[in-house]
Amino acid sequence: MDIISDPAAFQRVCWFWRLSGAKTALVPTMGFLHAGHASLLEAGRERADKVALSVFVNPSQFGPGEDFERYPRDPGRDAALAEAAGVDVMFTPEPGAMYPPGFATWVDVPELAKGLCGGSRPGHFRGVATIVAKLLMLSLPSMAIFGQKDWQQLAILKRLTQDLGFPAEIVGLPTVREPDGLALSSRNVYLSEAERAQAPALYEGLRLLRDWVRGGQTGAEALTARLRAWCGERAPLGEIDYLEIVDPDSLTPLGQVGDRALAAAAMRFGRTRLIDNLLLSPAG
Ligand code: PAF
Repeated sequence: MDIISDPAAFQRVCWFWRLSGAKTALVPTMGFLHAGHASLLEAGRERADKVALSVFVNPSQFGPGEDFERYPRDPGRDAALAEAAGVDVMFTPEPGAMYPPGFATWVDVPELAKGLCGGSRPGHFRGVATIVAKLLMLSLPSMAIFGQKDWQQLAILKRLTQDLGFPAEIVGLPTVREPDGLALSSRNVYLSEAERAQAPALYEGLRLLRDWVRGGQTGAEALTARLRAWCGERAPLGEIDYLEIVDPDSLTPLGQVGDRALAAAAMRFGRTRLIDNLLLSPAG
C-alpha cells in the first residue's frame, strides 16, 4: 500500500487508474478507523479493482468550540488497518495542502443541510460538501462509499454529485454496530463508562419507535414525544439534540409516518454528540 500526502501525486495515481479502465472506489474518512470503516473498505475491495482511502480531519466541517483539536487521530493504526483491508493507496493530506492560501470556493446544498445535524452544526455540511467535492475531483472514482449512520451527509453528497455531474456513484452502506446496538463512531472513545452504558438507548429508542409505528401509531409528533419521555428515563445522562421523522430523500419533516420515513436523532452525552437513524418503512 502506498501512503501519499501530496494531492497532485494522489491525483496522478487515481487518474491513471481510471484512465486505464480500472473500476475505482474512494472511501473518504477522518481516520481513527474502526470496523465500520473496514466494512466500507471491504465493499470497495469487492466492487472495484482499486481502492483509495482518504484520511483527513477536515477543519472546515468543525464549528467554533467543536472537537477539531481533540478529534482522535492514530495514523499508524489507520495504516495497519488499511493495509489489512487491501487498500491500494492511503491519502493523508495536510490541511494546508487541501486549503492552500487564497482558497475561496465552497460547495453548499442549503436545502438539505438546514435541518437535523445542520440545525445544530451550522456550516458543517458546507465543509463536508466542499471537501468531498475536492476529493472526488482529485481521485475521479467510479464510486465513493460512505456509511448510512451519516444519513443526511449521504443525501447531500448524492444531490451534489448529481447536480454537479461528478461521474461517480455514491454508495451508502448499513451502519456497523457494537453488540449492544451502539453505532460505531470514532467519537465513542470520548464517552465515560457511565455514558457508554446509556448510549445504546439512542438506537434502542429508534427501534422502539419503529415498533410503535408497526403497532399502528403514525403521528410523528406523538411518536417523538413518547420517545423523548422514554429516553429521559432510560438515559438520564443523555440530552436529545434533535429527534425527527423525515422523508428519507428530501429530509423534510413528516406529520404522519407513511410508506417511507426515516427517524433521525442526535443525543449529547456530556460533550459527546452521537447520531443515529432508522428507516421506519416496512422494508426498513
Ligand atoms: O463522514 C466523515 O468521516 C466525513 O464527514 C467525510 C465524509 C470524510 C468528510 O470529511
